This record gives sequence, C-alpha cells and structure tokens, in this order.
Amino acid sequence: MSDQAIPSPAATHPHKVRRDGPRKPKPGPWPWLDQGGRFSWLKATVLFGCFAPMLWLLWRWATDALGPEPLTEATHQTGSWCIRFLLISLAVTPARWTLGWPRVMQLRRMLGLAALGYALAHLALYVGNEHLRLWHVLLEIVKRPYLSTGFTALIGLSVLGWTSTDGWLRRLGRDWKRLHRLVYPLTALGILHFYMQSKINISEPALMTGFFLWLMLWRLVPARWRGNPLPLFPIALLAALGAAGLEYAWYAGTTKLPAAAILAANLDLEFEFRPAIWVLIAGLAVAGLAGAWWAIRQVFREPPTLPAPRGLRE
Ligand code: HEM
Repeated sequence: MSDQAIPSPAATHPHKVRRDGPRKPKPGPWPWLDQGGRFSWLKATVLFGCFAPMLWLLWRWATDALGPEPLTEATHQTGSWCIRFLLISLAVTPARWTLGWPRVMQLRRMLGLAALGYALAHLALYVGNEHLRLWHVLLEIVKRPYLSTGFTALIGLSVLGWTSTDGWLRRLGRDWKRLHRLVYPLTALGILHFYMQSKINISEPALMTGFFLWLMLWRLVPARWRGNPLPLFPIALLAALGAAGLEYAWYAGTTKLPAAAILAANLDLEFEFRPAIWVLIAGLAVAGLAGAWWAIRQVFREPPTLPAPRGLRE
C-alpha cells in the first residue's frame, strides 16, 4: 500500500499540521558539515587545525623528538594546548563582531570541545606518567592544590562538553547560556593551575592572563559599540596593564624574586619583551587591523535604501 493511502496523523490533526512545509532532514553529527548539512571548508579546515597539535605531538613522540621524558613533555604540551583552545574559543564572539562575520560562530563548539579533548589527554598522560596508579593519582589530586585546581577545571569543562549538544541546548533553554558562562571562571582556573605548576618563570601564564583579560574586557563593551574598533585600543592597554599587574602580584606574593624590578623591566624594551608588552603589541595589532577592516567595509557598504516619499507609499 502506498504511503498516500493512509494520511499521516500530522496531515489530519489540525494542531499537528506543519506550516513550514516538510521537515528538513537533520544534518548528520559530522563536524565538517554546516547547519544545512553541506560540506563546509571553514569547519573542515578548523577541524584539521584542532587535530594538528596532537598529530604533531604524536609525530615527535614517534621520532623520539620529545626529549628524555616524552610523557612529561606531552603532558605539558597538551595542558598548554587546552588553554590555547579555550582562549581561541573565547575569541570567536569578538571575531564575529569585529570582523562582521556571523559564520564564525559555528566554530565555537568545535573549538571548546578541542580544549576539552586536550584536557582529557593531559590527564590521561599524567596518569600514564604515574604508572597508571589511579589511587595514587587521586590522592595527589586531593593533596596538591595545583592538581586540585586543574581537576576542578577539568570537571567543569567536562560538564560543558557534555551539555554542548543541540539536545541539551533545547532541554536547558535559557539556562544553557547561564551554564556555559562557566567557561570564564573555568578558563581562569586553568590559567591559575598553569601559574601554580610553573616554577620560577611565569612568562607564559602571564601572557595567557593578558589575552584572557583582553577577552573579558571586550565582553564589557556595550552591545552597540561591539562592531566599532575604537574600544579595542583602550582594551589593549588595560589588558597589558592587567597582565603586568598580575605578574607583579604573583612574584611579590609567592616568590622571593624582586617583583618590582620585574615590573620595571616592562619599560625596558632593549632586551627581551615582557609578556605584558606582547599583550599590548597583539592588542594594538588587533585594534589596527579591525580599524582597517571597518574602514574597508564602510567604503564598500551598500548605500542605505531611503524610505519612499509619503505620496508614493501604498
Ligand atoms: C585532573 C586534571 C589535571 C591534572 C591532574 C593536571 C596535571 C598537570 C601536571 C602534572 C602538569 C605538569 C606539572 C609539572 O611538570 O610540574 C600540568 C601542567 C599544565 N596543565 Fe594541567 N592538569 C589537569 C588539568 C588541567 C586543565 C583542565 C588545564 C587547562 C585548562 C591544564 C593546563 C595545564 C597547563 C597549561 C600546564 C603547563 C604546561 C606547560 O608547562 O607548558 N591542566 N598539569
């Protein structure tokens, strides 16, 4: 019997008739497809970019290029990439507004999941380095504050990863956004774990702090200013000052190093640039490029359509 012979309940039930035509086939779960189920070069390229650090790490491991302690080195590398992907995922929304590029938003979930993937690999490598003694690892996590901090961040990231699906988005409604705002404190915890495990040199966590501050400060910009490149200049300066201040506070509060001299070294540009200077350079470069892009878009923007004169309106 043909399908047409028996009308479906949706066709007969007055409340179930779809007004928007037949249901579109749901795109598969493949991360290289866009929302319409078509192959997306953008998503495929970024997906490859997410795997690239892991492939590079595996290659170096296979060719004995990871040094005398490959497990320790791989633990460090995966930890760093977790923070980097978290920051990149937080940069997606600013990119959407400063570049006027809404499509970039479809990359956010993939980048966040990449961060989680590197965090899980990081934990697995640490457990491997501890000869798979799970009970010992658990005790270490409880005993050592830097591990407890990393562990808390990992649990939080796992919850966000688990609830990142469309199904959870629908189920949680407005609460989904509130829950996923936890990514800000969780990134901060990850950076704190980075500081705590660093011995004397905290240059890289200080750099990450500056970028994180930039991303947080950008979120304080009122919505109507978000497409405008001007706020990016003070944000660059404030993020750099914040990075220098936190670097000072860390050295002063947790070490016997001359924190004031390290702070003053930010002004000495003759030798190595301090992290805060790199944050300033990167922030100003972003502001300059965003300004140039904004100017180009103003020139090529379609002229606004004027409303028809009163007499000609229908
Ligand atoms: C159960 C969770 C975690 C454990 C047990 C753990 C453990 C470790 C260990 C043992 C180190 C190396 C410390 C050393 O050699 O002295 C490390 C470094 C690091 N971890 Fe974690 N971690 C965890 C979670 C995380 C998370 C969630 C992140 C990111 C958000 C993260 C980011 C880092 C970073 C950036 C480093 C330093 C890498 C470098 O030196 O370049 N960790 N972690």
